Amino acid sequence: MRNIAIFASGSGSNAENIIRYFKNHTNVKIDSVWSNKKEAYVLQRAKNLGIEAYSFSREEYSHSDHMFRELQKRKIELIVLAGFLWLVPPEFIDAFTIINIHPALLPKYGGKGMYGSKVHESVVKNKETESGITIHLVNTEYDKGEHLLQVKCPVFPEDTPDTLAARIHELEYQYFPAAIEEFLNRKL
Ligand code: GAR
Repeated sequence: MRNIAIFASGSGSNAENIIRYFKNHTNVKIDSVWSNKKEAYVLQRAKNLGIEAYSFSREEYSHSDHMFRELQKRKIELIVLAGFLWLVPPEFIDAFTIINIHPALLPKYGGKGMYGSKVHESVVKNKETESGITIHLVNTEYDKGEHLLQVKCPVFPEDTPDTLAARIHELEYQYFPAAIEEFLNRKL
């Protein structure tokens, strides 16, 4: 069994989509969902779908090896960041393969502080004519790891950050789970 842990900070619609996608897979399991926010809706979504869900503090994340050891004990092969806002500590990067999704065409609109609606606000403000998603490996810098997949979509003059976010979310739902599956198959 290939065990995946999902890290997420917010609503978790991508996390839910990934959980549903792998629900009936016989060789891939979404083992658990982890959030840096106790009240993040992603934790509720995960529990509703029968997936173990945990929150953690900054201290537990960065300065204790409890969480790290727990992930190792669970034999996590891949960590998927699905709207996760903290930088990943080096010991996690060394021990696990980690994939992130970013709601723009990196290297544009990436880096610290560039997440979720902030990305779409900047893209609309700059009158870009295209945006999209980037699925990439995670290293010690924000949004800098090797790209696995980019998919583009148009940005229309009448778009607001919200209409663009909705279009980008659709792309994420369509491509992210399959990209994870393909990555695991290639890694075999
Ligand atoms: C997604 O659009 C994801 O690409 C973005 O946060 C959103 C989470 O939505 N991630 C980043 O901005 C990371 N820098 P969700 O909670 O509904 O899945």
